[in-house]
Amino acid sequence: CGIVGYVGPRPALGVVVEGLRRLEYRGYDSAGVAVVSDGRGAAEGGRPPSDPPTRRIHVAKKAGKIANLDAELAAHALPADGLGLGHTRWATHGGPTDVNAHPHVSADGRVAVVHNGIIENFAALRTELAEDGVTCVSETDTEVVAHLLGQQVSAGVGLPEAMRLVCHRLQGAFTLVAVDAQGPRQVVAARRNSPLVVGVGDGENFLASDVAAFIEHTRDAIELGQDQVVVITDSDVTVTDFDGVPADVRPFHVDWDLSAAEKGGFDWFMRKEIYEQPKAVADTLLGRHDENGRLTLDEVRISEEELRRIDKIIIIACGTASYAGLVAKYAIEHWTRIPCEVELASEFRYRDPIVGPTTLVVAISQSGETADTLMAIRHAREQRARVLAVCNTNGATIPRESDAVIYTHAGPEISVASTKGFLTQIVACYLLGLYLAQVRGTKFGDEIASTMAELAAMPDAIASVLEDMDPVLKLAADFAEERVVLFLGRHVGYPVALEGALKLKELAYIHAEGFAAGELKHGPIALIEDGLPVFVVIPPRGRDMLHDKVLSNLQEVRARGARTVVLAEADDDEVLPYADVLVPLPKVSTLLQPLLATVPLQMFACELATLKGHDVDQPRNLAKSVTVE
Ligand code: G6P
Repeated sequence: CGIVGYVGPRPALGVVVEGLRRLEYRGYDSAGVAVVSDGRGAAEGGRPPSDPPTRRIHVAKKAGKIANLDAELAAHALPADGLGLGHTRWATHGGPTDVNAHPHVSADGRVAVVHNGIIENFAALRTELAEDGVTCVSETDTEVVAHLLGQQVSAGVGLPEAMRLVCHRLQGAFTLVAVDAQGPRQVVAARRNSPLVVGVGDGENFLASDVAAFIEHTRDAIELGQDQVVVITDSDVTVTDFDGVPADVRPFHVDWDLSAAEKGGFDWFMRKEIYEQPKAVADTLLGRHDENGRLTLDEVRISEEELRRIDKIIIIACGTASYAGLVAKYAIEHWTRIPCEVELASEFRYRDPIVGPTTLVVAISQSGETADTLMAIRHAREQRARVLAVCNTNGATIPRESDAVIYTHAGPEISVASTKGFLTQIVACYLLGLYLAQVRGTKFGDEIASTMAELAAMPDAIASVLEDMDPVLKLAADFAEERVVLFLGRHVGYPVALEGALKLKELAYIHAEGFAAGELKHGPIALIEDGLPVFVVIPPRGRDMLHDKVLSNLQEVRARGARTVVLAEADDDEVLPYADVLVPLPKVSTLLQPLLATVPLQMFACELATLKGHDVDQPRNLAKSVTVE
């Protein structure tokens, strides 16, 4: 979910709705706003401002995307002045309906609250409220917080203290932002496990799940820590813990600008982000050498001695990031000779994994806020493992809670389906693998310089793949009516196949599966029938025997009637007799091929979903940053 709060001289409604628009990628099944009018500003519903001024809460909320909220606001105007807060939702408790949309308001109408996360003990709290005669109108866990805060403030407790008291009673993960119509001019928020940042302006202040919401107004921000309550007024930001003890704050400056978060002429953020990949990869590689050509990873604050003691690496991640981890495993084990496992973050924590002080856990997360990954790293740290995050979002929770971080520097990724996030995660993991090889002096150390040189050439190679997307666009048109698509790959081509399939599921809602090509004959080949589209990622020719193995797999599916789309080196004429369509790739070594082979698959999914009329940037049921487990 995305959250915004504002206090300042501008019309709050506009600031909040614009902020929500920039956060919509975080969830988009309903949206809502609340403003506390002081009665001095724009008239409500055409009526003149009240005299004397009264302060009350006005709420507008609608199921569906923000466009629905816009329509609601156009039909029923809210006062534009005063304090404001807003929410764009990804439903957990209670379906995406108008009533369940946030904000939720206390029984007496004084307090409005928005929430991101899950309150695990809400059922017990709801029963308790019912015993006090308070009935919830929605099915959400959030509404209980509105009533609990309402009870406190009507008993004379100030909203900041009420928030601290209520937070002590809540179990689970939450960011809460609230206003009290009868209280001082302030917005109060609390944070546990879900993201929240403060935007510090001049005579105005902001609260949001992500800096994108307020970057138009200020680039000065403050990170909030775990279990903190923040109060913003026009001129002040005050942070305490849940017991009211003042807390230290960590200010930071946002170094990307608004244009980086806008579409720049493309139809979708996704397409823009696909085309940004050459630059994103170049930025991930920037400044990783010292003057002697040795790799330096500034953000890795784990001593070399400790890194030499590491005897096991576990990569944890979700979705696309987990496939980047699968690619990285091949390279890291090869270069470092340290056993490396890859595990879905949601599985890791709950299976009692073997982790200890000599384990390096690598957590890959574009957003740095994925709850499954966060919980997994907490578990790893409890077992005294060292945790290194590979992340794209400065100051996010996962890097903050890790011992070290390698930032991918890909710039904001807005489209829900990850593209440049994926490529740069692979590159960052490769840098880590090479760095470990350097520190530990493995015999593969001599590959460091040659691999770095090859990596340096990747931005141009990716750009050359992007130059000729016409065959892929045509392919999308040809396959627009398909119901099932398969992807095959082997070695690092296997995670590429998984990623190609995931992109089609996410964007085009097509049943797509990726298989290890060698596994084909052990089952999936039974799926092959006349005309079934099968994408095959062919390893580079000549240098390794894998090429011929995958070539055989290609022949096997072709012989059974599959329509084959073959991703192979441009001059690989051995594949031609078996390729209905050839997508040519530049020559690179096997380990680097995923950085090229993934790109046409991303574009294929993007185009196919566009042709089917889907919202590519915000696919149904998904969210960019899933901050619940
Ligand atoms: C969500 C998105 C996926 C993404 C995954 C991991 O499920 O829909 O596209 O790969 O989160 O995100 P992260 O921010 O942790 O890389």
